[in-house]
Amino acid sequence: MWRLVFTFAVVAPVFSQGFVAPILSTSSSRDGSAPRRARTSAVSRPLQSGSSSPPEWAVIFDCDGVILESESLHREAYNAVFREFAVDYEWSPEYYDELQNKVGGGKPKMRYYFGENGWPKSKLGAPPETDQEKDLLIDSLQDRKTDIYKEFVANGTAVLRPGVQRLIDETKAISGGKMAICSASTKDACLFVLDNLLGEENLSKFDLVLAGDDVPRRKPDPMIYALASEKLGVPPERCMVIEDSLIGLEAALGAKMNCVITYTGSTESQDFAGSLGVYPELGDEGSTQVRASELLKLMGV
Ligand SMILES: *[C@@H]1O[C@H](CO)[C@@H](O)[C@H](O)[C@H]1NC(C)=O
Ligand SMILES: *[C@@H]1O[C@H](CO)[C@@H](O)[C@H](O)[C@H]1NC(C)=O
Repeated sequence: MWRLVFTFAVVAPVFSQGFVAPILSTSSSRDGSAPRRARTSAVSRPLQSGSSSPPEWAVIFDCDGVILESESLHREAYNAVFREFAVDYEWSPEYYDELQNKVGGGKPKMRYYFGENGWPKSKLGAPPETDQEKDLLIDSLQDRKTDIYKEFVANGTAVLRPGVQRLIDETKAISGGKMAICSASTKDACLFVLDNLLGEENLSKFDLVLAGDDVPRRKPDPMIYALASEKLGVPPERCMVIEDSLIGLEAALGAKMNCVITYTGSTESQDFAGSLGVYPELGDEGSTQVRASELLKLMGV
């Protein structure tokens, strides 16, 4: 009776061609504002003669939490799969945040929760008793949850956070810099989200996309940002990272980059000491907007 196999078609994402766009820098442009901090004023260097000069600065977006509010979607996907499997549990936003801080990873979360609250009966049958039965329930729930999350991303339930599109366009319009995305999730998951939410046209505006599996150590380790600096050819002190969480902030600061925070419901109470700005959102028309020019000013570019 524990031999049900679930197969679900996954919408095939149209991955954009070329993960790392060619880096072409044109003229440099400074907006004339005085550097705010000594360490950034010390890095100005003579520009190369000729038509190409090194990129002056970079704005780097985190993905999950910054480009989209992923935590609430993950929680909703778990609740949806619980309903679908007739598992009589539901995770509230408050409980999910608590669980998230206690246990990393989807399967361990469910295992922990069922261990604490009782292994549930489900459409697979009576509450599992053997380890094998427990594994099957967890695996089945997690597989389906992954598919539901992808459906959320592909069918428009997942949307860009306010101000993301505006800030991308604004940043791109300022010449002399680079734009990148550094995601903690796997390359497949990251590209699936970016393809669906940003689309090829917007994605082509980025010079670099790095994912968690591009580096051996994940955030809060600074490795992903150090690699971004190297690949972009922009020194870390002229990189501005946009993060949503303390883990991301630690990674950015560890790489000696500048960082601003746009927090979410699940990270709002974290301590963002060391960031250059903390905002509830990047903001669209009608609300306070984090402008690209302001981000450059903050790092003294
Ligand atoms: C998107 O997918 C989810 C998960 O399958 C589903 O519950 C939801 O109704 C879908 N929404 C739309 C607009 O199709
Ligand atoms: C990408 O950018 C263009 C123009 O900036 C915009 O019109 C479009 O809706 C964006 N999004 C997607 C998913 O293509």
